[in-house]
Amino acid sequence: MAAPHILDVDFARSQFPALKAGFIFADNAGGSQVTQSAIDLIVDYLTNTNAQLGADYSVSAVSTKRVESAAEEARTLFNAESNSEIAFGPSSTSNLENLARGLEPDIQPGDEFIVTGEHEANCGAWKKLAARRGAVVKYWHSTPTHPNNPYSFSLKVEDLLPLITAKTRIVAFTATSNLLGSVVPVQEITRALRADAAAKGAKKVEVSIDCVAYAPHRRMDVKAWDIVG
Ligand SMILES: Cc1ncc(COP(=O)(O)O)c(C=O)c1O
Repeated sequence: MAAPHILDVDFARSQFPALKAGFIFADNAGGSQVTQSAIDLIVDYLTNTNAQLGADYSVSAVSTKRVESAAEEARTLFNAESNSEIAFGPSSTSNLENLARGLEPDIQPGDEFIVTGEHEANCGAWKKLAARRGAVVKYWHSTPTHPNNPYSFSLKVEDLLPLITAKTRIVAFTATSNLLGSVVPVQEITRALRADAAAKGAKKVEVSIDCVAYAPHRRMDVKAWDIVG
């Protein structure tokens, strides 16, 4: 294997059995490929330790430990502070729906949500929550990056900041849009939006970031991104 800072492409590709047939999969998110080691762990879990969690018989004890270790691995992956910040669920769409329902009692009529809206998974739950609680939905639209290229769209912080007011409560966007493919500078955006929101008198702003198309390619860091709590 090459030095850790140099990507050994042949080694990396060899870890993904789906690439052995020579395909380059340009799809993403739901089409993300997994390594042989991940496949082996899933098979081993289902073969040997697929039991009720939290019981006192030996297989359950091992199973519980394995599930708990998954939270620890995820904590490392996201650079989260504690395992209690990690929640597993069936899909990002349903995870965000659960998150929105959890926040519901704390949302007041007139609160403002800013969404990017290019994928139902990351905006649908917030739009439904807004409708239930009388909140206002605003759209942060992507705009052209190069004036001469009508296809070069991306989300820009200068288009976000004018949408922020003292009533901003939730800002939800994608770290990488599955439509545009452009990578959003998350840290720069959360820093700018939090500073702007504080200057305008917003008391509590939650930031929700959809990393479905980002996670397979880039490192996530919830501390550096300031999206915890
Ligand atoms: C950017 C993005 N967000 C969310 C989703 C939906 O994820 P899920 O199927 O886990 O709800 C997708 C699906 O491909 C996606 O591309």
